[in-house]
Amino acid sequence: MSQSYAPSPEFTEQANGQADLYEQAESDFEGFWAAQARERITWSKDFEETLDWSDAPFAKWFVGGELNASVNCVDRHVDAGNGDRVAIHFEGEGGDTRTITYADLQKLVAQAANALEELGVSTGDRVAIYLPMVPEAVVAMLACARLGAPHSVVFGGFSAEALHTRIADADAKLVITADGQFRRGKPSPLKAAVDAAIDHGDDESPVQTVLVVRRTEEDVRWVEGRDLWWHEVVDKQPETHEAQAFDSEHPLFILYTSGTTGKPKGIFHTTGGYLTQTAYTNAVVHDLHPESDVYWCTADIGWVTGHSYIVYGPLANGATQVLYEGTPDTPHKGRFWEIVDTYDVSILYTAPTAIRTFMKWGDDIPAKYDLSSLRVLGTVGEPINPEAWRWYREHIGGGSAPIVDTWWQTETGAIMISPLPGVTELEPGSAQKPIPGISAEILDDEGKPFTEPDKVGYLVLTKPWPSMLRGIWGDEQRYKDTYWSRFGPEYYFAGDGAKYDGEGNIWLLGRVDDVMNVSGHRLSTAEIESALVSHEAVAEAAVVGANDETTGQAVVAFVILREEAREQADEVGEGSDLVQEMRNHVAKEIGPIAKPRTIMVVSELPKTRSGKIMRRLLKDVAENREVGDVTTLADSSVMEQIQSGLQK
Ligand code: WTA
Repeated sequence: MSQSYAPSPEFTEQANGQADLYEQAESDFEGFWAAQARERITWSKDFEETLDWSDAPFAKWFVGGELNASVNCVDRHVDAGNGDRVAIHFEGEGGDTRTITYADLQKLVAQAANALEELGVSTGDRVAIYLPMVPEAVVAMLACARLGAPHSVVFGGFSAEALHTRIADADAKLVITADGQFRRGKPSPLKAAVDAAIDHGDDESPVQTVLVVRRTEEDVRWVEGRDLWWHEVVDKQPETHEAQAFDSEHPLFILYTSGTTGKPKGIFHTTGGYLTQTAYTNAVVHDLHPESDVYWCTADIGWVTGHSYIVYGPLANGATQVLYEGTPDTPHKGRFWEIVDTYDVSILYTAPTAIRTFMKWGDDIPAKYDLSSLRVLGTVGEPINPEAWRWYREHIGGGSAPIVDTWWQTETGAIMISPLPGVTELEPGSAQKPIPGISAEILDDEGKPFTEPDKVGYLVLTKPWPSMLRGIWGDEQRYKDTYWSRFGPEYYFAGDGAKYDGEGNIWLLGRVDDVMNVSGHRLSTAEIESALVSHEAVAEAAVVGANDETTGQAVVAFVILREEAREQADEVGEGSDLVQEMRNHVAKEIGPIAKPRTIMVVSELPKTRSGKIMRRLLKDVAENREVGDVTTLADSSVMEQIQSGLQK
């Protein structure tokens, strides 16, 4: 029997998000969002129209309004007399710390904006950011926003190859990076990947300037005339910068995410709507009270969670937050709890995969620290299993903190489905209901909405929302095809399976397309397959996401070797050199997060008569299940061959 958890009256009383929000949004959808935009954001010029959906699926929100995102995240808090409030408590992996107030942040952002201008960056130019989790990452993003130069942040764990594709697709003229980053106590290079991404060979790079933050102090290769040290260029700049207001629909950033094909999609977001919804959700879902809370989102800035819930939402709200550079087990497995204890963190937003890892490490580790400051817990990135939810509440939340399980995507820009911590009776494992202002339904195979419990269907969003993606960079058609055609133009197709329970709660059931979710990171099967096939020994590859206790899903690859490779390799088992080499090859092509957990060398792949690989059957093998229906295979003996080959 499932147990649900009602909010305490004390929590409800102080909560930002109250029950009447649902009614307000229901009775006047546009009026509701217009009020959020005016209440939470400072506009240099007020908007005339809330939503223009006449050119659907291309939305315009807060039409005619003008604002500057960076001014909203920084300057206006200083102007309101909160310059002394801490914006960022930075905690380096090695224990170095920095305290940055809003007044400090204003100066840092102004200097960086002046520097970028001096280097020729102007409104509309794209800037790539490839940085570790250091304050300069936040500063760089805000400096770009200040100039109206869309940033494209590339996760520091991505390879030179992946960086190259993203720089080329966005046509970025400047890259901001660091000499290196600290990972598990050791410096690892970053600048070298930027060099390789630029000197790629096949085409001329659009990059004219590389601005390098000094972090690890390791030696780096230096290209005169192209490479500049951040501290030499930025530190000498004037500490003020006059910001210009931009149209509400001015592009704010591009962020690449995996889709069903090999080519990553450049999801692009604009200014007014994005800022409104990130600020609103951070206030009502995380229940942020900027005067008293210490907020900590453990995501990396290279993912959308870092964009929306480290940079734009919390800073627009004037939050005090922790920024942590490193991993949870460096130098010891209590590091997160030590940080919570040290800074009196009151709101913690993290991923289910991290929680499952902490569970595995043992209850005694968090028990050593004082976690009583925590009053709201959140999760994002994948479904959270009820056991992990209960452990999180019990061992981290002192048995009483509400947990908000928030469903959203790079494309949605901000939280869409989640409990409100002061209103919703919490049901562990379910993200529950669309937040006020958002509408979702579940459709069957025929595209008909239904509400019966336990029937599995497809999650769709039925109304535009302010922080929605405005497209895929440079590819209008792909935007329409991917999101607005599966069930017709009135439904945004999210790509997730979902069902209702008897109480009308929505349960998210994972991707229904060829996208995997490994530790909350989106990876495309096609992208990993094409990385594998680019290895000289591989003739064909099929990749599936198999269930994994800790990471949610794990990458499992089936490969067919080329004739010559087969003859040369003495051994092709799990630990063999060749398999190791193939795994490293994927890391080089995409990044270590994409490394297959398992590579199985097979002689055939299961295909339908039309030549489509039947991943469902491979998934059965990868998850050690009895193999399902094989009747649609072109050659039904293939699965037997695969399985007998594996047992050898
Ligand atoms: C999954 C991350 C279940 C989902 C913000 C979605 C979730 C994909 C949840 C987007 C959740 C995210 N419960 N599944 N609370 N949150 N997902 O673009 O499959 O990296 O489509 O954005 O993560 O991943 P993305």
